[in-house]
Amino acid sequence: MSRDAYELAAEAARRLRELSGVAAFEVALVLGSGWVPAADAVGRGVAEFSVTELPGFAPPGVAGHSGRVRVVETAPGRFGLVFLGRTHLYEGRGVEPVVHGVRTAVAAGVSTVVLTNAAGGLRPETQDVGEPVLISDHINLTGANPITGATFIDLTEVYSRRLRDLAREVDPSLAEGVYVAFRGPTYETPAEIRMLRTLGGDLVGMSTVLEAIAAREAGAEVLGVSLVTNPGAGLVGEPLNHEEVLAVGRSTAARMGVLLGKVVGKL
Ligand code: 6GU
Repeated sequence: MSRDAYELAAEAARRLRELSGVAAFEVALVLGSGWVPAADAVGRGVAEFSVTELPGFAPPGVAGHSGRVRVVETAPGRFGLVFLGRTHLYEGRGVEPVVHGVRTAVAAGVSTVVLTNAAGGLRPETQDVGEPVLISDHINLTGANPITGATFIDLTEVYSRRLRDLAREVDPSLAEGVYVAFRGPTYETPAEIRMLRTLGGDLVGMSTVLEAIAAREAGAEVLGVSLVTNPGAGLVGEPLNHEEVLAVGRSTAARMGVLLGKVVGKL
């Protein structure tokens, strides 16, 4: 990470402490498309701001991404941060705004980062729309990386086995899968979807991997959860649209909220 990115994250963390009156946070959740309706179940909100009140954050750009950050009390005297939306690489502002939330959270004391997203399912034979899937690993096809310079970071276990096991204690029916990220914003072609199946992918989306790398670099443990909102292009024949992705989120919010609330309660 460049010195400037560290400093900006430390500055944003200071501002967050000032605005919230909370000295240290333990967990951060990034709620992607389809997950924002589940936010209320994570914990009692004690403060909420626009991310633009903190240095280094890009203003929100996408439907379903409010650009707000909420401070929640996850247990008496324990605090978490909930990002109600995220910045994506396809917005064209580069990598740093994409990972700034995670870096800010770690600078504010967070040791566990929960990354959620809406994803296309690459295995409709075994995946249902509306199903949450634990991310076991990723394939980063974004062409980007939040780390620059000769910093060779081990990515053997980006998505913590311990946290996946903990999530399965909450819900033993949770499946796991490999998440493939493209830059977007176009959805994939049917040929790309067939390629990703051959490559060993189970889920496809446009987020999460850069944040996961940045969180690992910063020393946090990562849990990733995808909500399968549709099969990948060409697998069942229906064209894809963002409104459908958000609708699946609204209809599954209660289940996703319970899942996140219980996982956070076990940390
Ligand atoms: Cl099919 N692809 C990508 N890249 N992102 C998605 C998706 C598909 N479905 C939801 N998000």
